[in-house]
Amino acid sequence: MASTTEQAAATTNEAAQSAAPRRSVTLRLWRGDADGGGLVDYEVPALEGEVVLDVVHRIQATSAPDLAVRWNCKAGKCGSCSAEINGKPRLMCMTRMSTLPQDEPITVSPMRTFPVIRDLVTDVSYNFTVAAAIPAFSPGPREADGTYRMAQVDIDRSQEFRKCIECFLCQNVCHVIRDHEDNKQYYAGPRFLARLAELEMHPLDNLDRRRYISEQMGIGLCNITKCCTEVCPESIHITDNAIIPLKERVVDARYDPVAWLGRKLLGRKPPKSATAVAAVAPLWRDRGAEHAGAGSKEA
Ligand code: SF4
Ligand code: SF4
Ligand code: FES
Repeated sequence: MASTTEQAAATTNEAAQSAAPRRSVTLRLWRGDADGGGLVDYEVPALEGEVVLDVVHRIQATSAPDLAVRWNCKAGKCGSCSAEINGKPRLMCMTRMSTLPQDEPITVSPMRTFPVIRDLVTDVSYNFTVAAAIPAFSPGPREADGTYRMAQVDIDRSQEFRKCIECFLCQNVCHVIRDHEDNKQYYAGPRFLARLAELEMHPLDNLDRRRYISEQMGIGLCNITKCCTEVCPESIHITDNAIIPLKERVVDARYDPVAWLGRKLLGRKPPKSATAVAAVAPLWRDRGAEHAGAGSKEA
């Protein structure tokens, strides 16, 4: 049992702590809409264990009830809360405040590659129009016993790409579309090149998309800078495990003289034409999609 002297000391300590000035932190948030905007500072008390999204929510609950922010799971799984934190594309719900410098304002701005709707919310529908243009999984016939079989190594390979939460941080950071708005018409971007790699490497898939990937999905525009891999919150090796092997397959289909000779000698079919594959799922730019090359806004 604590002595009277110890109890008095504890009370003095508590009093001293409550009298101490509370540490604060400044969040510099981009506020505005499609017509323009700018950075606004919000100073709030710093609390232990918070992530950036917690602080944004506190600001919304106290001083900026009209602040627009998109989120759903707060667990790094829905891919909704993507933003640029101190200039780096990250998930707000997975970025601990303690990992950021607290003695200077922490800047949170919307993803730059997509048009701003309001504040931290962007219009990412370009990605969905590209997704809709990817020819779906086309399995061949089942085995005689009515099942499909594939090796564990093939399952593991596609499992890596299936971890994608569609946060589009990789699309946001890819300079091919970040710095060149017009390329959105011709380029699928890293998230969808990974999806195409998953389909192309799938042993049960029967559709040959290689010329389509080269001629319609713009894989040649990727110059393997690996920025997409660096920002992926699911640690998917987008360049090493998806784009580079996909580029090799595309080269085999289009330019490899040995593969060409082999096909001639063995009487194998040439790679399926891009037009034939595009007929399965029309390209976004051919459908007059409003998002093909739609203007994004500097934030
Ligand atoms: S590696 Fe390719 S897809 Fe990834 S960011 Fe660089 S250019 Fe874009
Ligand atoms: S590949 Fe990674 S960065 Fe790109 S959308 Fe999927 S989870 Fe996000
Ligand atoms: S809120 Fe779902 S990933 Fe951040």
